[in-house]
Amino acid sequence: MKGMVFTEFLEMVEDKFSADMVDDIIDDSAPPSGGAYTAVGTYDHNELVGMVVALSQRSGLPVPALVHAFGVHLFGRFHALYPAFFGGITSAVDFLYGIESVIHTEVRKLYPDAQLPSFDCERLPDGLNMLYASPRHFGDLAEGLIAGAVAHFGDPVNVTRVNLPDGAIRFELRNKA
Ligand code: HEM
Repeated sequence: MKGMVFTEFLEMVEDKFSADMVDDIIDDSAPPSGGAYTAVGTYDHNELVGMVVALSQRSGLPVPALVHAFGVHLFGRFHALYPAFFGGITSAVDFLYGIESVIHTEVRKLYPDAQLPSFDCERLPDGLNMLYASPRHFGDLAEGLIAGAVAHFGDPVNVTRVNLPDGAIRFELRNKA
């Protein structure tokens, strides 16, 4: 996984907890890379999982809640770091509809080694269905990123998560009645 995901995660931990917490979760999880991440590097995503588990143990907060919160935070950082991807877009549904065909396609051009999930998106008269699949199973991250997008654009939609038997997840965004 790209180093920027790690650096953004550790910055969030420093902001919401402390610099000591950053050191502690790196010590606890003993990542094979050593835990000194650069934004342009690429690291095993299991190192992120290890640090989240360590943070959960130290904070008492559940892993899914921490990953979800990181997704919301990461959306804000993507918005700050990649403003070009947001030009002319006024709704979360429009933005998210292009996640695979536009956003992650551009990300792949910038970082050919990026390991991206697949999102199969279907527009509906009253919203959007997004089918998420990834061998890394970061559904909680996807949920947080979607929540971040909805909060950012302010779409009047409810988001429902349906975990499917094959490990994929369907996110259903529906206009509020
Ligand atoms: C401007 C917006 C965005 C940019 C620039 C961006 C870019 C990236 C990058 C660089 C990665 C890491 C790839 C790697 O580690 O190799 C990533 C992963 C990921 N992105 Fe995006 N992304 C954006 C928005 C979103 C949104 C809105 C969603 C949710 C719908 C999303 C879902 C994910 C997920 C779930 C992953 C983790 C990898 C996995 O699940 O296998 N991204 N993205």
